[in-house]
Amino acid sequence: MSEKKGIILSGMRPTGKLHLGNLFGALENWVKLQDEYQCFFCVVDWHALTTAYEEPSDVKENVKEMVLDWLSCGIDPEKAVVFRQSDVKEHAELHLLLSMVTPLSWLERIPTYKEQLQQIEGRNLATYGFLGYPLLQAADILIYKATAVPVGEDQAPHIEFTREIARRVNYMYNKKIFPEPATILNEYKLVPGLDNRKMSKSYNNVLEISIPPQEIPERVRMMITDPGRIRKSDPGNPEICSIYAFHRIFNQLEPESIETACRGGEIGCVECKKMLSGWMHKFLEPIFNKRQELEKNPQLVAEILEKGREKAQEVARNTMQEVRSAMGMV
Ligand code: TRP
Ligand code: SF4
Repeated sequence: MSEKKGIILSGMRPTGKLHLGNLFGALENWVKLQDEYQCFFCVVDWHALTTAYEEPSDVKENVKEMVLDWLSCGIDPEKAVVFRQSDVKEHAELHLLLSMVTPLSWLERIPTYKEQLQQIEGRNLATYGFLGYPLLQAADILIYKATAVPVGEDQAPHIEFTREIARRVNYMYNKKIFPEPATILNEYKLVPGLDNRKMSKSYNNVLEISIPPQEIPERVRMMITDPGRIRKSDPGNPEICSIYAFHRIFNQLEPESIETACRGGEIGCVECKKMLSGWMHKFLEPIFNKRQELEKNPQLVAEILEKGREKAQEVARNTMQEVRSAMGMV
């Protein structure tokens, strides 16, 4: 651990099978970081409950699916601690103790809170748990004394909030308990959805990481291209075509040549899609095969999470001793 650059914690809500947006927006970065840092990767099932509390029946299955996706994309439980939030009850205790010192106004002004209250329809989010979401996240991070947190841009205010909480606790109890974690912004490759909007479950336009390779051509065939192109000789606009955006991610040779050929009316969309299917097949087949392999052992995920719990809990317990002592509980 000593030769590592620091301690990282990150988490994902188990909302089902992951899609390519998750892979290129987060997971790919995690895989790189696990060699450089002591990493804790947490399946935040309590956070999933803040929105899924009325129909929690899928959460357990989603935990398993998500861990399988992580592993098949290269997260290595020998390098990183892979665990489930609700297995380490210390997170809940830290959340509670931190709630004593957290001004309500700090939570209310976090931009994601206001936005999501308005955006997420059909669910009552005027709950205590939803308001406290960022504080539970802060507890996830601080309990491991993480020095850095890799997240997407939308999560940056939560890490800023975490630093404020760390500072406040350290100052109030005159003891340097928590480091102030830095934000590592995920290197983000823009993956449009199959309909050229942002890839998102709520738009129903996602491609799952674990898609069987033989289904790729059909899914690609259905994707929307430049609607202005009718004949092959029509000059196209690759910048509005999701096939081209995918070429930029998957085409290992020269995605630029696709752009030139499209603009010059030298390549037809059918051919262009066939080429893309080939590249995607090459990229996704090993991930699929690895997942098939992992699925052969139905105990695997439970075993990994149990080992992860042990390692995570050891660290979390030590931190809680310090916090309890600082806050007059022991
Ligand atoms: N809020 C994060 C998200 O929606 C998930 C999360 C929970 C998290 N706890 C975390 C991310 C701690 C980073 C660190 O993506
Ligand atoms: Fe899109 Fe390719 Fe058709 Fe151009 S040729 S519009 S990049 S599918």
